[in-house]
Amino acid sequence: SPHARAGSQSTGPVIVSHRGASAYAPENTLAAIDKAAAMGFNWVENDVQRTRDGELVVVHDATLARTTDVERVYPNRAPWKVKDFTAAEIARLDAGSWFSSRYTGTRVPTLKQYMNRVSHNHQKLVLEIKNPALYPGIERETLKLLSNEGWLDPAHLRSSLLVQSFSADSVRTVHDLRPGIRTAFLGKPSIAQLPQYARFADQINADHTSLSSAYISAVHGVRGPHGSPMKVFAWTVNDASTARRLAGFGVDGIITNVPDVIRRTWG
Ligand code: G3P
Ligand code: CA
Repeated sequence: SPHARAGSQSTGPVIVSHRGASAYAPENTLAAIDKAAAMGFNWVENDVQRTRDGELVVVHDATLARTTDVERVYPNRAPWKVKDFTAAEIARLDAGSWFSSRYTGTRVPTLKQYMNRVSHNHQKLVLEIKNPALYPGIERETLKLLSNEGWLDPAHLRSSLLVQSFSADSVRTVHDLRPGIRTAFLGKPSIAQLPQYARFADQINADHTSLSSAYISAVHGVRGPHGSPMKVFAWTVNDASTARRLAGFGVDGIITNVPDVIRRTWG
């Protein structure tokens, strides 16, 4: 299978490179997913938002200030919100030099560019719909782009894509629009609330500091919208001892900036 190539993981929870291999290359860039691929990691995570003119782009913060040179290029445009800039304006920004001069010239990718690189690298994607309250309709637009790029074809759908959000409404919307997609809610519902989330979310992806063995067992005891036991991924785990403890709790996946460190934990 083409997806086997980038994945060299044998045992333990699934390892997801958070914003790409973001300890080693600028987060949410093509360089960061290439870095993950070069290190042998197939699952990558990103964050999707929308420009003023409706382009979907991959960037984490609601503003461009931290991860680009936007303050220098557009000094009069504070507070530099993603939604106030056109795709052409964002395409001029440098999204790499803040991280290291080695990455000068790295761009903020459009979601389309990003998806194409994930495919090219034979990788799999945890796509986060970020700040959806700022971008009405972003769920439908994201699914349309995924569909156009072939990501909703049956072969891809169940094995190569997970859509997540901190917004339960957003996750429910994705599930209702395309019930075949695997989804995750970012957060930690109470055990009593899990059956409600199980109607639209296959997974609970939670802050690792909030997780316990009992909670993970409770999630595993509930079946998601596709009939399988719900899973738990933990974020953002950047040290071996925490990863080992979570693996002992039975966590299904670890979202990390340092995939190589986590792999060594049980590799
Ligand atoms: O994938 C989970 C994690 O990315 C959620 O937090 O702020 O890094 O998007 P954040
Ligand atoms: Ca994220």
